[in-house]
Amino acid sequence: MTLTCGIDIGGTKILGGVVDPDGTILAELRVDSPASDPEAIEQAVAGLVRALCADHDVSAVGVGAAGYVDKARSNVMFAPNIAWRDVPMRAALEADLGLPVVVENDANAAAWGEFRFGAGEDVDDLLLVTVGTGIGGGLVLDGELYRGAFGVGAEIGHMRMVPGGVLCGCGNRGCYEQYASGSALVREARDAARGGSLLAREVLDLADGDVDRISGPLITRAAQAGDPFATEQLAELGRWLGEGIASLTAVLDPAVVVIGGGVSEAEDLLLEPARRAFRSQLAGRGHRPELSIRKAQLGNRAGLIGAADLARR
Ligand code: BGC
Ligand code: NA
Ligand code: ZN
Repeated sequence: MTLTCGIDIGGTKILGGVVDPDGTILAELRVDSPASDPEAIEQAVAGLVRALCADHDVSAVGVGAAGYVDKARSNVMFAPNIAWRDVPMRAALEADLGLPVVVENDANAAAWGEFRFGAGEDVDDLLLVTVGTGIGGGLVLDGELYRGAFGVGAEIGHMRMVPGGVLCGCGNRGCYEQYASGSALVREARDAARGGSLLAREVLDLADGDVDRISGPLITRAAQAGDPFATEQLAELGRWLGEGIASLTAVLDPAVVVIGGGVSEAEDLLLEPARRAFRSQLAGRGHRPELSIRKAQLGNRAGLIGAADLARR
């Protein structure tokens, strides 16, 4: 049985795991992501792989990276939320580890993971949307991972939703990820709390009165406990998500849209508003088959499982 190592580098954390050919994780580790320091990221990844290899015989490494990865699956050309600018990640890791390495966009890797082993196992065409620090997109079309001419297809987080809107890490204004990501959720809730909104009182209490401690998981917990403000924040995010998915459906016509990333843990508090907004914005609604919007089955492990599987191919 060949084992591979899967790594998922995000804006806040790096996850690593040893994965078998059925997509089962045999061992897992996690560290914080030193997102402003590419060299520290490379070292953290190498450290994770070495630790994971100590007890398992790993034959290759797949890395999902939250940025623009070139067609050769080697270099990270750019990232909006991590300080990567033309980073030769594959060469650095191969030299460091002495193992074959494949680098792929994190959301592409997650889409592949869900297609092979999760919420998309029953279809040939799926769009995965990750809702975390940013918004990521991954596309499987006709059973193949779609990468685009230059490796950077499906960068849906940077579609412009609002002309002149909120400034994005990519340098543009009004990108999808400024309205429908976990960062957007936290930004809005903190703004309300900082502005002294009485509505945000429960959320602020949960954060022990410290605005900076308001986080995505905290808002989700508050909503699950019935707090109307937190519930509305998630619903607003869901509406943005659903409207974006309706536009994407006009282009791509997938069978399933899988919602992953940390914020998908809010389940129907996020997904129901997204489904409603999707239905209300879908062109030709009522006269065309309607896709289903599902939660990622592999949760926030989709990326590492997908990356590990891509390393096997
Ligand atoms: C980046 C993508 C990444 C996504 C999710 C976006 O800001 O542009 O490359 O897939 O965040 O991490
Ligand atoms: Na992508
Ligand atoms: Zn952007």
